[in-house]
Amino acid sequence: MKYYVGADLGTSSLKLLLVDSRGEIIRTSVRSYPVYYPNIGWSEQNPDDWWNAFVSGVKELVQDICSDEIAGIGVGGQMHGLVVLDEADSVIRPAILWNDGRTDEETAYLNEVVGKKKLSELTANIAFAGFTTPKILWLQKNEPENFRRISKIMLPKDYINYKLTGVHCTDYSDASGMLLLDVKNKRWSDEMLEICGITHEQMPKLFESYDSVGSLLPEVAEMLGLDSDTNVVAGAGDNAAAAVGTGTVTDGRCNISLGTSGTVFISSNEFSVDKNNALHSFCHASGGYHLMACILSAASCNKWFCEDILKTDDYEAEQKEITDDCLGKNDVFFLPYLMGERSPINDTDARGAFVGMRMDTKRSDMLLAVLEGVAFAIRDNLEIAKSQGINTTCSSLCGGGAKSELWQKILCNVLNIDITLLQTEQGPGFGAAMLAMVGCGEFSHVKDCAKEFVKIKKTLSPDAHISARYETQYNKFKKIYPSLKNLFKSIKAGD
Ligand code: XUL
Repeated sequence: MKYYVGADLGTSSLKLLLVDSRGEIIRTSVRSYPVYYPNIGWSEQNPDDWWNAFVSGVKELVQDICSDEIAGIGVGGQMHGLVVLDEADSVIRPAILWNDGRTDEETAYLNEVVGKKKLSELTANIAFAGFTTPKILWLQKNEPENFRRISKIMLPKDYINYKLTGVHCTDYSDASGMLLLDVKNKRWSDEMLEICGITHEQMPKLFESYDSVGSLLPEVAEMLGLDSDTNVVAGAGDNAAAAVGTGTVTDGRCNISLGTSGTVFISSNEFSVDKNNALHSFCHASGGYHLMACILSAASCNKWFCEDILKTDDYEAEQKEITDDCLGKNDVFFLPYLMGERSPINDTDARGAFVGMRMDTKRSDMLLAVLEGVAFAIRDNLEIAKSQGINTTCSSLCGGGAKSELWQKILCNVLNIDITLLQTEQGPGFGAAMLAMVGCGEFSHVKDCAKEFVKIKKTLSPDAHISARYETQYNKFKKIYPSLKNLFKSIKAGD
C-alpha cells in the first residue's frame, strides 16, 4: 500500500492527513500556532512556527508506517501571505497574512495610479489589500532595509516546500493571488515585477499544483523519518486545494468554504474575467481556472463571539437553543467585518457591528445573528456571481464552520440553493493529498482522482418558508453596511 501526506497550512492551525492510495484517511494530526496582531488591522505569523508544526505533525502522522510506503506529500495553504528570505535563507521578518489590512495606500496606488484596467489586463485581477503585491510595496516603503535584503519571495505553503526540497517554487493557483502572475498565460508579468521593483530571480519557479517539484533533502528526510525519494508536489492555495478535495473541478461547480475566511469558489475550464473585477480570476489546481470571492471573517466570527466574548468553546451547547422556528425571524443583525472586508466591498476600514438589540435580546439571538451575518455576506458574493451570469443552484460546503448543522441550514436557506455535504470533510488537506497522488502517477488527472474519491454524504435543500423569511432579512441586512460606511471611515480616522 502507498500512503500520501496532505497538509492544510491554515491560519489557526496546520491540519495533516495520512491518506492511502484508496483515498481512505488513516490518521490526522493538528498543530496550532499563534497569529500576531502587532497593530490595528495587521496580522502576521512566524514561518518557522509553520515549519515546526509541520515537522512535529508529520512525525506523529507517519510513526508506524514503513518509510518506503510514503510516496508523496502535498501542501495546500493560506494564500497571499508575503514570506521573504535573505541570501542565507533566513526569514527576514514575520509573514504578512492574507487578512492583513495595512496596505490601504499601496492598494489605492495600484488601483488608481497604475489603474484597474491595466492591472486587469496584466494579471486578470485588481488590487485588494490582502494580495501580495501591495504588501511588497508596503515593505519597500516602510522597511527599506528589509526590502533590500530580499533574495527570495514566496507564499506560506511554498516555505514548507522550500524547507522540504530546497526548491524555490510555487504553483499557479497560489501565484494567481499575488497580483504578479499573468493568470491567462500562466507566467510572471514582467511589468508587475517592475512596478514592485523586484526581479525574476527573486520569484519562485512556477508549476502546476500536481507537478512534482522534487524530493526530500536528505537531512529533512531523516528528521521526518521518511525516505529521501519521497515526492513533493507543488500543492495549491487552500481554496483551490479545497476545491480539489470537494470535487469542485468540473466546469461551473461551486464550493463554499467556512474557514477562518469564507469563500465562494466557481470552477471553470476556460479563463474568464468578471467585468467589474469583483470576483478574483485565478488558476485552478486542476489545471483549469476559477472565479472566487473571499470574505475575511467567517468561522472566525463564531470563534471570536463564543471564545472571546462568551468565554466558551462549547459551540454546540451555545447553538442548542436555536431551533428551526427561530430562523429568519431574528431582529438582531451582525456585520461580520472584524478584519475589514474584501469581497465584494473591498473596504479595510469596515468593522463588525451588532444592530437591532432590545432589552429582551438573548445571547442566542446574538449568536444567531453572527451565523446569519456570515451567511448574508456569502450571499452578497453569490449575488455578484449571479450578476455575471453565473447562476449557482447547488454548492458543496467545507471548512470548520460546515460541521455545524445549524449553520449548514442557515446557509442553505439564506442562499436558497442545495448544499451538498461530503463524506470527507477535510477539504484542503484531502485535496493536497489528492494532488500528491496525481503527482506520483496514481491518477493521470485531478478530475479522475476526484471522481473516484469524492462522495456525497447528504444534500440539504432549502425550506420554502425559512428561505422566504431569509429573503426579507437579507434585504434588511443589505442596508446596514451602506449606512455605516462613513462612520467606519471616521472611526478609523479617529474623528
Ligand atoms: C483567499 C483568501 C483566504 C485565505 C485563507 O483569497 O485570502 O481564503 O487563503 O486561508
